[in-house]
Amino acid sequence: KIRLGILGSGKGSNFRAILEAIQAGQIDAEVAIVLSDVPGAGILQYAADAGLRAEEIVEPKFRTRLSPEVEEGLVRTLKDAGVDLVVLAGYMRMVKSTTLDAFPRRVINIHPSLLPKFPGLEAWKQALEAGESVTGCTVHYVDSGMDTGEIIAQESVPVLPDDTAASLHARIQVAEHHLYPAIVKRFADGELP
Ligand code: GAR
Repeated sequence: KIRLGILGSGKGSNFRAILEAIQAGQIDAEVAIVLSDVPGAGILQYAADAGLRAEEIVEPKFRTRLSPEVEEGLVRTLKDAGVDLVVLAGYMRMVKSTTLDAFPRRVINIHPSLLPKFPGLEAWKQALEAGESVTGCTVHYVDSGMDTGEIIAQESVPVLPDDTAASLHARIQVAEHHLYPAIVKRFADGELP
């Protein structure tokens, strides 16, 4: 059974979708640990309520990346927890070679656009402002760039004429909650290298 290490900064709805699929017996995996850089984040609360190991690893120096000593601590924590697959679920920092070398082709992310379009922050807003008629979400391997790693799968959603940023993000999240558990299942079933 593969052991997941989940990293998130926000409310944790993608984590929830994955956990529910595990609990329903659809994914043969277990959540070894949930880590957040944001004290009190919803994702930590939900994990703790579910009886899972949930910890903060805060970064005092930088906003969007990790200092080497913090990233080394993160990797040590993941390794100590016996993690096989690192699942970024709304984790709003870049991980670098410290993490990627420790988990080669074993760090994945979900991004709220059809990459390579709209990497970076608030990708749904970028799609709306660009006048796209279709956007979606992407699950990809993480590399050292920002949202540049090899794409594993995507799901599209329409952009509707009266969409707001919030309504479009909500529609993308529904797609995320299908796509991410389905891809984690493929790792659990040994179908992905
Ligand atoms: C998701 O929409 C995810 O795609 C996005 O943050 C949201 C987290 O929601 N991630 C990024 O923008 C990463 N650059 P959640 O906490 O409810 O899963």
